Amino acid sequence: MSPTDAALRQHLEAALADDPQQVDVLTRWDRWGPDLLAGLAEVYPQHPDLARRLLDLVAAAHLRRSDALRTRDRARLLAPDWFQRPDAVGYACYADRFAGTLAGVGERVDYLRELGVTYLHLMPLLQPRPGENDGGYAVMDYGRVRPDLGTMDDLEALAATLHEAGISLTLDLVLNHVAAEHAWAEAARAGDPTYRDYFYVYPDRTVPDQYEVTLPEVFPDFAPGNFTWDEALRGWVWTTFNAWQWDVNWTNPDVLCAYAGIILDLANRGVDCLRLDAIAFIWKRLGTDCQNQPEVHAITRVLRAAARMAAPSLVFKAEAIVAPRQLVAYLGRGEHAGRVSDLAYHNSLMVQIWSALASRDARLMAVALSRFPDIPTTAAWATYLRCHDDIGWAIDDDDAAAIGWNGYAHRGFLSDFYVGVHPASFAEGLAFQENPVTGDRRISGTAASLAGLGLARTDAQRRMAIDRILLGYAMVLGFGGIPLIHMGDELALRNDEGWASVPEHADDNRWVHRPRMPWDVVPQRHDLATDTGRMWAGLQRLVTVRRTLEPLHASAPTRVHATSHPSVVCFVRRHPAGDLLQVYNVSDATVALPVHDIAGHGAELTLDRLSNRSVTPYRGEHVLRPYAAWWLTEER
Ligand code: GLC
Repeated sequence: MSPTDAALRQHLEAALADDPQQVDVLTRWDRWGPDLLAGLAEVYPQHPDLARRLLDLVAAAHLRRSDALRTRDRARLLAPDWFQRPDAVGYACYADRFAGTLAGVGERVDYLRELGVTYLHLMPLLQPRPGENDGGYAVMDYGRVRPDLGTMDDLEALAATLHEAGISLTLDLVLNHVAAEHAWAEAARAGDPTYRDYFYVYPDRTVPDQYEVTLPEVFPDFAPGNFTWDEALRGWVWTTFNAWQWDVNWTNPDVLCAYAGIILDLANRGVDCLRLDAIAFIWKRLGTDCQNQPEVHAITRVLRAAARMAAPSLVFKAEAIVAPRQLVAYLGRGEHAGRVSDLAYHNSLMVQIWSALASRDARLMAVALSRFPDIPTTAAWATYLRCHDDIGWAIDDDDAAAIGWNGYAHRGFLSDFYVGVHPASFAEGLAFQENPVTGDRRISGTAASLAGLGLARTDAQRRMAIDRILLGYAMVLGFGGIPLIHMGDELALRNDEGWASVPEHADDNRWVHRPRMPWDVVPQRHDLATDTGRMWAGLQRLVTVRRTLEPLHASAPTRVHATSHPSVVCFVRRHPAGDLLQVYNVSDATVALPVHDIAGHGAELTLDRLSNRSVTPYRGEHVLRPYAAWWLTEER
């Protein structure tokens, strides 16, 4: 330990002099202090006082931490793999659309438990700007809950209720931008230079135009360009997303400290996981697309180290919807391995599932997923079929070329397919943010509507659509990592036809797949004669079986293999507890697969745990029904 480090330790010791658990925090400093210092040295070398400022925040937060949460910290330090375990199942919803208020969510815990949920992501619920607010991603006050949902005390009470029921709570931390109505932005507009420095503001177009050369547009439709003129500021302010979402300036150490404070406050309310919204964008560099810059990871490392000291049960989930080769860095590569986010969304898996279903061909999936590097054994993917956002066709041109496809043409095909104009389509999606310059079209729609439930006319077609969704979920639950169920998918909810009736939503068709929970339909979940009942039963089966399969622990990697049949793909998980071979048919046709195609992954893996039946070949071939999903282990 260097003299400076020793001085910092003493500083922390003094700040916690009255804390009976002082030694816990000091031990955590010994463990995570080096991470904090390494991250700071990389990004803020000219601010030597920063470590001390952060330690003050850590000490203050720990002093305020409740006994219940301190106990939770100790438990989680002993079981740091809680989010990696096969029994971990996530659910994501808007508190108001699911249950009206935070208190209402607390009353629906039994429903979540019945589905096997152990992790609940409540969509943005901190005080947003009035009017349009990007589904809550334009936060005006991080210290207040949206009044119609409840108060901070209600949030704390809900966290406690969830914890008691064995459910962890995830909230969004929007850290790339604040609402233009946030107090920092108001102060900047009022002429306070300290707060002007919280943002990127330029007096004229010179610098913005230089950046624009290489910057993409996130919302080309309703928010073209990346800068917005503000009359009061007399300047162009950086606005990657909407004009009223101001990007904050992370080169400013005050911004780092402000967010560290927000993180620790939320942790002290009982939040277990923070979804780091749009994390890829927080560092800007001229001449680049201003995403995935190395500083992003160093900053995450600092914030995580600070959180680990004050509230070690808190984990981070990166929301980085970026190219596959950039994504793995969010879970840590090289010196950051295992030191940044604990979870990251597996956007590529989601895209590849929809791509395979449309093309009835899993070869591209096999190429793309097998090219992913391994992740740290302490981290996990957050896997999902749908979320609150649109689907962007993140198909890599090289991956497409590897199977003789043209990436651009395939992306065009997928858009045509999912908006329903392609003759072979079964889908009813909407085009989101059509970009005439790049030809890019993203897709909105619920899993059920994209999978064809709305267009299904006969019972057989409806069963086929449900099987398609269930195949997607089998992959999501079988991949390893924490699977996230997007509210409504468990009931096969179709597009919300009335999505545009809320005036603030009318411009943003992502609301088509953010329906309200139809509690009157929920009782049908136990009726297998209904689509709802079939969907629920199928999903519940996946959850129940998954829980028993130790090889699905996220610490083991997933290997994805093509087979000799283009529609069939295998996921293989090798684990000391026993291997697991998953076989999926992504097509609506019955497929015959030579036995040796899968026997190579383990001839003894013949018991399908999903159906609880042994798979037996017929004349040297396995016969896979349309959308068959097998999870094979050794016979018991
Ligand atoms: C994330 C959110 C998305 C939002 C954006 C800007 O990508 O998922 O809904 O529009 O960040 O905050």
